[in-house]
Amino acid sequence: MIIDTADLDPTSSYKLLIGSVLPRAIAWVSTSSATGVGNIAPVSFFTVVGRFPPILSISLQPRSDGVTLKDTFINIRDTGEFVINIATLAQADAVHRSAFEFDNDVDEFESLGLEKAPSEVVAAPRIAGAPISFECVVDRIIPMPPLPDHVVWGRVKRIHVRDDLYLSRGRIDVGALGVFGRLAAEYTLVDNIFPRRYPRSSSRSWLRNAPAGSTGIRPTTRRSTPLNGRARAPRRRSRNDRDGAVHSRIPR
Ligand SMILES: Cc1cc2nc3c(=O)[nH]c(=O)nc-3n(C[C@H](O)[C@H](O)[C@H](O)COP(=O)(O)O)c2cc1C
Repeated sequence: MIIDTADLDPTSSYKLLIGSVLPRAIAWVSTSSATGVGNIAPVSFFTVVGRFPPILSISLQPRSDGVTLKDTFINIRDTGEFVINIATLAQADAVHRSAFEFDNDVDEFESLGLEKAPSEVVAAPRIAGAPISFECVVDRIIPMPPLPDHVVWGRVKRIHVRDDLYLSRGRIDVGALGVFGRLAAEYTLVDNIFPRRYPRSSSRSWLRNAPAGSTGIRPTTRRSTPLNGRARAPRRRSRNDRDGAVHSRIPR
């Protein structure tokens, strides 16, 4: 099957994209209107686009009527600020409920029973209880014609990390985080890590000996590490092994 995107309407295109890009990370975006009304929205068209300066991207479509701009977008456009919070599995239900299209004069923190936490440099509040939050100022807003969609790049000014998740040498304890993602229109738990090793020196035979049809990366003898099962002892990490697992801890 080869699909010419010129033959697709927005809905068919959307279905193919969300069924193929798996899983998608979820930005739990908190904003404040120009008059100070708090808003929360999950956004799964979310990724990192720059590392230095750190820049995150979210894409906002219109409301379900297909034309009205979302309060999240209006708030970001009007104030130039927003916060991207990372949610844990324990917050999944709240994340889902925060997609409800409340009227713009409703403070969604209050309606959803979520606590605000102050930000340091932006007016938008953080979501208390989120293990990681990125305070962002708008870097650019990219309209996506012919649809009324907008891509927003946020320049990250502050990163709040729960102390116990902050490992030595500035790493995040990803296993302890217990995050989930979007899988098409459903959700998926990020609950295992499988490490891959690189050879100590560049080795063509190591790449060539990969079994036909494989990615060229040798399967390891270790199985994937279930984070919600019995934890294995962390293995020793080599300097070349930058892509490997960090640990195996049970998410909270
Ligand atoms: C898991 C999840 C992911 C979502 N991802 C997006 C997205 O990437 N872009 C978008 O515009 N809306 C997305 N939505 C819908 C918005 O969250 C929803 O329209 C928004 O909260 C509406 O509220 P607002 O008008 O107050 O911003 C998503 C909803 C859910 C449940």
